[in-house]
Amino acid sequence: MTSNSISFDRAADYYDATRGFPPSVEREAAALIAGAGGLTAATRVLELGIGTGRIALPMRPHTGPYFGIDIATAMMGKLREKQAAASSAAPIYLTQGDATRLPFAANTFDAIIVVHVFHLIPQWQAALDEAGRVLRPGGVMLYGWNRARQDQVLSKVWDDFIRMADKGRDGFREERADEIIGRGWTKHGDRRIHEFTTLRSPNDFLIGLKQRQWSHTWHIDDATHAAGVAAVEAHIAAHYDQPDKPRELPSSFNVQAFRPPQ
Ligand SMILES: C[S@@+](CC[C@H](N)C(=O)[O-])C[C@H]1O[C@@H](n2cnc3c(N)ncnc32)[C@H](O)[C@@H]1O
Repeated sequence: MTSNSISFDRAADYYDATRGFPPSVEREAAALIAGAGGLTAATRVLELGIGTGRIALPMRPHTGPYFGIDIATAMMGKLREKQAAASSAAPIYLTQGDATRLPFAANTFDAIIVVHVFHLIPQWQAALDEAGRVLRPGGVMLYGWNRARQDQVLSKVWDDFIRMADKGRDGFREERADEIIGRGWTKHGDRRIHEFTTLRSPNDFLIGLKQRQWSHTWHIDDATHAAGVAAVEAHIAAHYDQPDKPRELPSSFNVQAFRPPQ
């Protein structure tokens, strides 16, 4: 049994195509995480919600033993395929399991990495507590997130429509450290940011919505979803001359290190 978290098994086949970073950004993001945590070849790491290894594979050269857990076996299958294709020597130890009930003893890891996961877990507080339990004293959690990889105007059109139709969803809010601090964790150093550009057309966003590529669309009933798509479509028709033309979207990868409650 899982904790009613949102599994990404359904997204495994298209996750990297829609969320992947360009190789240079991937390397910069990994270096940013390693720097924020002072990670070395001796650091024993656990990544929560490791997925397809978008973060783990570029992180691997920066760390010691690397463990990952995810509820979605199909996502981790992609990680294994990529590792095999790259003949990657350094192992990544994978476990299918739930971040709210980690199958590891207390004080096992020097660092925990978590990128875009807590918002998928209704009991994210339990996942945070578990992260604190398995970290050794002096260990650090590296919490990362992307910002603005979609057209912000179109995202707002969609959000405004859906929020009206879908009141009351209030889980973990990404981009905010309040929840983590509210659980007794403390910031360790400043937030680190790597800025880059994403090339995406307005119609790319529309296609993503239509195909329900993002988890924030998965729970929406068909009628509401169709109406939201129509609202975005109408906005694009009214405001964009060339909706298929890719535009440069200012984007960033962010990481903040935290120490667990004492
Ligand atoms: C948005 S993906 C992010 C994957 C990876 N961290 C990255 O940044 O590319 C979120 C991942 O968290 C996993 N997940 C969701 N709830 C989980 C839970 N309770 N325990 C472990 N993994 C979970 C999903 O299956 C999915 O693979």
